[in-house]
Amino acid sequence: MARLTGLIISEDERFRIHLAGLMRAGAIPVSVIERRQSQDGASADLVVVDVRAQVPSAMATIERLRAGSGSVAVFAVASESSPELILQAMRAGANEFFTWPPAEPVFHEAVGRTAARRDSSTAGRPQARVLAFFGAKGGAGTTTVAVNCGVELARLSKRPTVIVDLKPGLGEVALFLGLRSRYSLLDALDNLHRLDGEFLRELVARHKSGLEMLAGSDHFERPGAADSGAVEEVFRLLGRQYEYILVDAGSQIHACSVAALYTADAIYLVTNPDVPSVRNAQRLIDRINQLGACGERVRVLLNRAAEPYPIPPAQIEGAVGRPVDHTFPSDYKTVSAALNAGVPIASTGTSEIASQFDRFTRRILDLAAAAPEASRGALGLQRLASLW
Ligand SMILES: Nc1ncnc2c1ncn2[C@@H]1O[C@H](COP(=O)(O)OP(=O)(O)O)[C@@H](O)[C@H]1O
Ligand SMILES: [Mg+2]
Repeated sequence: MARLTGLIISEDERFRIHLAGLMRAGAIPVSVIERRQSQDGASADLVVVDVRAQVPSAMATIERLRAGSGSVAVFAVASESSPELILQAMRAGANEFFTWPPAEPVFHEAVGRTAARRDSSTAGRPQARVLAFFGAKGGAGTTTVAVNCGVELARLSKRPTVIVDLKPGLGEVALFLGLRSRYSLLDALDNLHRLDGEFLRELVARHKSGLEMLAGSDHFERPGAADSGAVEEVFRLLGRQYEYILVDAGSQIHACSVAALYTADAIYLVTNPDVPSVRNAQRLIDRINQLGACGERVRVLLNRAAEPYPIPPAQIEGAVGRPVDHTFPSDYKTVSAALNAGVPIASTGTSEIASQFDRFTRRILDLAAAAPEASRGALGLQRLASLW
């Protein structure tokens, strides 16, 4: 699925909050960057310009954006839809025109057209896929599943794959992989201005499977709320270097894990077949739904599944309101031996749990190959213009 970067240009904070919410609530993941992170939309795919007040300066902004990039999609939001204003916006270089407040389905259709245009202009260049792993509760096996899936993805796809440990304070991804890293996610967050491909290569550690890792922070307070914008930006920059980006997002909803949820193409919610996990999974799905349509991207993974189930799978599916996407058996011996040796389960032999990681990963690769294209259509304004 296409992922876009959106920028909002408006002096009105209410407008910015409303538009950021709209962008994030659609089926296509859009990461919203702040103006200070992007010089006049230089790195954005989509820029929304508020043309409700000070029309001439807003039109000048659209012209400047268009002159700066032929491919950026410019959305103009005006207070009325007079034909003169629409024409003026179109001549300045806007692709889409809305009246305030934009109707959700119409806005999301326009985002779909933008994604389709970008897909066709970058045809042949693979899109990064972000897979976020989130635990229904601590100890559910989120790190176990994320790390093992990462190793298998790197091994099977042979494509650039990275895992990011987002957990504040001593994440365990490095430990599970048996890797040491001199640098961590914090070095990326604190050096955004010079975070090019070469610098990123310095920050990651490489596992022998080919999987690369951006290690977790060793600060208990970071990444914190103040880092969430930078976290989204790091994902965007990683997207230029890697085809698969896995995120161990822990089991707490906070500003940075929410940033990962917004960016993710798929959100894997790792749960166990017990009452506290299922109850938490239910509540987390509700919360993720409240955060926007990224709820549609949630897939439930059942880990430590073993007969007799404290709660049968059908009842779990009923409680969380969606099917279990994949089940991993309970196998403490294999999992803990792998952890103690710092070796991923997939490399430990022919256990059922190892073959489930293989199967799960192959399904992700099939899904990636068959990712649905965003709806294609004529440019909004051109179509509008042709109706006159
Ligand atoms: N499928 C499984 N079967 C048995 N034990 C497991 C399984 N998955 C994880 N564990 C164990 O559960 C513990 C917590 O796993 P971890 O991945 O660290 O969870 P989380 O990241 O959700 O806190 C670890 O000791 C791990 O070895
Ligand atoms: Mg963990």
